[in-house]
Amino acid sequence: MDSLIDALEARIQSESLDTPEAREAFRVRYLGRKSGEITDLMKGLKDVPAAERPAVGQRLNTLRSLAETRIEEADARLQTARAEVPRIDVTLPGRRLPQGSLHPITETLYEIERVFARLGFSIAEGPEIEDDFYNFTALGFPPDHPARDMQDTFFLKHGQGQDVVLRTHTSPVQIRVMERQKPPLRLIVPGRVYRNESISYKSFCLFHQVEGLVVDKGVTFADLKAVLHLFAQALFGEGVKMRFRPSFFPFTEPSAEVDIYQPDPQAPDDLSRGRWLEILGCGMVDPVVFGHVGIDAEAYTGYAFGMGVERIAMLRYGIDDIRLLYENDVRLLAQF
Ligand code: PHE
Repeated sequence: MDSLIDALEARIQSESLDTPEAREAFRVRYLGRKSGEITDLMKGLKDVPAAERPAVGQRLNTLRSLAETRIEEADARLQTARAEVPRIDVTLPGRRLPQGSLHPITETLYEIERVFARLGFSIAEGPEIEDDFYNFTALGFPPDHPARDMQDTFFLKHGQGQDVVLRTHTSPVQIRVMERQKPPLRLIVPGRVYRNESISYKSFCLFHQVEGLVVDKGVTFADLKAVLHLFAQALFGEGVKMRFRPSFFPFTEPSAEVDIYQPDPQAPDDLSRGRWLEILGCGMVDPVVFGHVGIDAEAYTGYAFGMGVERIAMLRYGIDDIRLLYENDVRLLAQF
């Protein structure tokens, strides 16, 4: 019996208890209530001859204290180890989260809206799905006008004057507004438009326009020119060079297109090196259009314009391909 206890004592001394798992295994192996080795020996004490019993009992008690002490020591060590886990340094500066920014089209759209708000314009909106009447007929497009052609227009429903289309411009909103509101009118209409064109560096199947409409007594082409000049100066700077070219639209008379001069960055002073970029169409509201919405063309005149937001964004930011604005490549977007 003594040699058995000696061996057990040696093992208890040499076990390593440096993880919580090892500590628990140790406790179960030696002190476990069901079949711990010390527990079992104590249960067997009754079979030990009476004369030896007190001495053996004494040794077993000492053994149990030894095992308990080893557990307590292990607990103390594990506790310290846990306390030494590095704590969070709350004084460290935080990690920055990447921040998004407005898309260059949105940014430009907002800028255009701000400029016209300062000039007293309010904002109206209209549907992107239009019928033939608003997109074409009320605006004076004859039935066989090429703009109605399959080449240009996305038809959702086609036939017997029942056409439903994705609007090809924001001008149908002029009609919707004038049906509901009577002059004086002074508003802009920002929105998306769609054209079934072949996609290239300068045209995309979807783009944005801002329509403008002013109707009142005594409105003239000089008012239109003045407003557009103020607008161009606000977006491109005081010294902006712009030109009005005579043009044609079925819903304005007379009509013009406006170009902005883009100097050659290599030779900004050499006027033969730069190029003119068209940004908008405009004109005096055709009396035929007033007829469609019940406004007295004898009493009122008005002007309208429609500008391409992508073209203006490209000019402002020096982007030379419209498709870049629709790829959502973060390498481009992160620059704004
Ligand atoms: N709606 C025309 C276009 O998309 C632009 C325009 C608007 C022209 C208003 C004159 C007046 O080309």
